[in-house]
Amino acid sequence: MWIHLNSKMILMECFIFVMITFLMTGARCEVPEVFAEAGSQAVLPCESSRTSSAEPVIIWSKANKGTVWRRQRSGLLYRGSSWSGKGTQRVHCPHTQFEGGDYSLQINNVREDDGGVYTCSLDFEGQVVTKVVTLRIIKVSFSPEALVSGMDFSVTCNVTPWAHGASMQWMLNNSPFVPQTGIPVDRYASKSMRKKATEQLTGIWTCVVAYKGKEWRASATLSVRGIIQPPNDNTKVYAAVGSAVTLPCVFSPGITPSLPVWEKLQSGSLLKSVPGHLSPSFSPSSQSPELPWDKSASLKEVGFEDEGRYRCSATVEGQKLSRNIQLVVAQIDRSVSSKKKDSVTLTCQLSDASEVTDYEWVYVTYDINGTQSVRPIQKGKTLSISQVSEENWGEWVCLFSSKDGMLGNVTYHVQLMSGLSGQKSSGFSQNTGVVVGLSCLLIVLLLILAQMYKNHQRKKRIFQYPALETIVHTISNEREERERNHVKK
Ligand SMILES: *[C@@H]1O[C@H](CO)[C@@H](O)[C@H](O)[C@H]1NC(C)=O
Ligand SMILES: *[C@@H]1O[C@H](CO)[C@@H](O)[C@H](O)[C@H]1NC(C)=O
Repeated sequence: MWIHLNSKMILMECFIFVMITFLMTGARCEVPEVFAEAGSQAVLPCESSRTSSAEPVIIWSKANKGTVWRRQRSGLLYRGSSWSGKGTQRVHCPHTQFEGGDYSLQINNVREDDGGVYTCSLDFEGQVVTKVVTLRIIKVSFSPEALVSGMDFSVTCNVTPWAHGASMQWMLNNSPFVPQTGIPVDRYASKSMRKKATEQLTGIWTCVVAYKGKEWRASATLSVRGIIQPPNDNTKVYAAVGSAVTLPCVFSPGITPSLPVWEKLQSGSLLKSVPGHLSPSFSPSSQSPELPWDKSASLKEVGFEDEGRYRCSATVEGQKLSRNIQLVVAQIDRSVSSKKKDSVTLTCQLSDASEVTDYEWVYVTYDINGTQSVRPIQKGKTLSISQVSEENWGEWVCLFSSKDGMLGNVTYHVQLMSGLSGQKSSGFSQNTGVVVGLSCLLIVLLLILAQMYKNHQRKKRIFQYPALETIVHTISNEREERERNHVKK
């Protein structure tokens, strides 16, 4: 209580001092305020311009706690019992600075209960100089400390003792943290925030305390365990028809999710799943003993019907975690123009092109060493090429990208054979092309054989009835003659 009065009196003195000096010099007088982050070192200033041949008696004391540190004129040191426990001295007053009139107190590894009002008293042989300093400790803490995505938690910024009129702001990973409640950012936000833990809240939380035109910071690291890959729901994964693709589902390292399940979701509905609707080329995570947190799945050969939404889910410490992933399938549609038979139009088709902002066609060739060379052709979704032209044999690749960068590509192969036979064959249906070609050939052969057999049978029949042939012949001759006569009339 007396300290309170004391500081009030000092404030008063200062006020008067300011009033006097302001008019003359514009100088300011303040009760020093020191803010320190819990665990760091705090320096409480105490400077005197008084010069004296003898060193003063120095007494640092804390309100309600008694003497912190004392130095007799003889050099004898004394530390308060609560400051010198277990062999580590947390308080120091560097002797080397005394000559310059600096009697500042250093407190290492400050704790919340170190916050309070300190008094430095210098006794220059009867003349006592007293300085008051307020030490405030800033500490960021989480409750509970170990979090799994989906749990409720609170993040608190404590200033001990609280500075009336101070304002507080949060930063997460060095960017201002705006609570997503729709409420405008309040500079005088509450000291504690309740949130639902998500992987995105992982990182360094910094509390910025502003007081009397100055800023202090304190930080703490929050780790939320959950699904780290992909980081967001409804992440799109792009794959070309016929290629292999991995659908990522990676949990935080060190945790072993139980009951992992992959499902394909019914289109249009995010909630209903279609059990057992996974394609045959779909293989869920391999149970790798080294990486039990990697539950990614893969498709060995993507078909156009594999496009859609998938869900990976598992249970971690009683929390059911899941992530929705959208597989977007790309393929090249080919159409032959009706005017020019040898020219084809290739169209880059995606099952969901909502993120795609750019299409580009490139022509890829390989030299004898297998070195790839890429030649840009044109922008746009479609491309017209001549199939029979020998210089177009190779790979036509459609690259598609969003505003953030490349998303994927899909390849159309024009091969030597297709040039000769006029048959198309593309990357994902090379085999189909060959099969169709062979089938056509077989059908043609069969037709020829059938015709030959028919002719053979007819001849055989006619030879069996030579008389009948004569009759047929005579009848037709007679009919012809009659018609001729008819025309003459
Ligand atoms: C193929 O590789 C050899 C040796 O690495 C090199 O000398 C030659 O120039 C390469 N040819 C082409 C077409 O790049
Ligand atoms: C197409 O995508 C594959 C896989 O991402 C990549 O390795 C390849 O270089 C891409 N092709 C072109 C021409 O960019």
